[in-house]
Amino acid sequence: MSHQTKFNDLYTYIHMKIAGKFPNTRLRRVRNSEWIRRLVSENDLSINDLILPIFIRDGKNKIEPIKSMPGVNRYSIDKLSVIMNKAKKNRIPMVALFPYTPKIKKDNSGKEALNKNNLICKSLKFIKKRYSGIGVMCDVALDPYTSHGHDGLIINKKIDNDKTVKILVQQALLQAEMGCDVIAPSDMMDGRVGAIRKALDKKNFQNVSILSYAAKYASSFYGPFRDAVGSKKNLKSDKKTYQMDFRNLNEAYREINLDIKEGADMVMVKPGLPYLDIIKSIKDNFKIPVFAYQVSGEYSLIKQGIKNKLISDEAILESLMAFKRAGASAIVTYFALEVANKIKKS
Ligand code: PBG
Repeated sequence: MSHQTKFNDLYTYIHMKIAGKFPNTRLRRVRNSEWIRRLVSENDLSINDLILPIFIRDGKNKIEPIKSMPGVNRYSIDKLSVIMNKAKKNRIPMVALFPYTPKIKKDNSGKEALNKNNLICKSLKFIKKRYSGIGVMCDVALDPYTSHGHDGLIINKKIDNDKTVKILVQQALLQAEMGCDVIAPSDMMDGRVGAIRKALDKKNFQNVSILSYAAKYASSFYGPFRDAVGSKKNLKSDKKTYQMDFRNLNEAYREINLDIKEGADMVMVKPGLPYLDIIKSIKDNFKIPVFAYQVSGEYSLIKQGIKNKLISDEAILESLMAFKRAGASAIVTYFALEVANKIKKS
């Protein structure tokens, strides 16, 4: 079959599926009122799709606004119940924990990551004791703990893959011991999913799942997050030797393929909106739950746009629905509570 015939066949095929001709077909008839639009809608966003990120800080009685992320706070552990109660009330299925580590606890090797009493461990214990029905996911990566802000160990001026993986395995095991449900390696080292799965199984954590940040791109959209976890000022270079190049799609397939083989239960694409094509093609090709991360930069841009009256707050739902259209199973979003409230009212 020549190229041309192949194309023609496909063209005819698509047309048979979406056949129609004006004036017999008037598409505005299915948009004419709110009730018909509801009936023909192809996608819906539900509370079941939402993952709420929470930033944790040290100290007592602290709910500290993050300047670069209007509406998002850092909570001291004694105040975690404030946001956890909201998550529970809104039936948010899972929260994702991120620590703001005090500067004095950061060092070259990020050893605070392995401290049984670090912010993540203490928060896990706090939450798991009081909120049994909510899943908790934790990042596996060293950047909140390293003085240089990188996700891995620097040896001879390079991020050392295999030595970093050894520490990440310990970090993941510690999180599992503390009750973490979903281990989320966000570091982009090669081989870490397999190493973590093996170690978890060996220690009888067969039921702890792995959500791998499989297609995580080196992105400018993480700026406000790095502020939120206090790594921005420390980070003197980019993360392009381990996070993905934003020109690439096939490389994402290779990442996903490796992570699935190594034992990932779910995969994450990150950032979100600028990478909808990646979400869609991974979903189509791998048939695995694909999660999307609407990252801090996306959040803050939309939020500032709304605050400055450049766009209306309907943009929030519009941005999240795009993930559903692309095929995402769930979305990590700083809008989770706001949107859950809206969904409940609608
Ligand atoms: C750390 C991590 C980052 C984010 C989640 N985990 C930042 C980075 O890789 O530099 C970004 C999340 C966001 O921007 O909302 N490994």
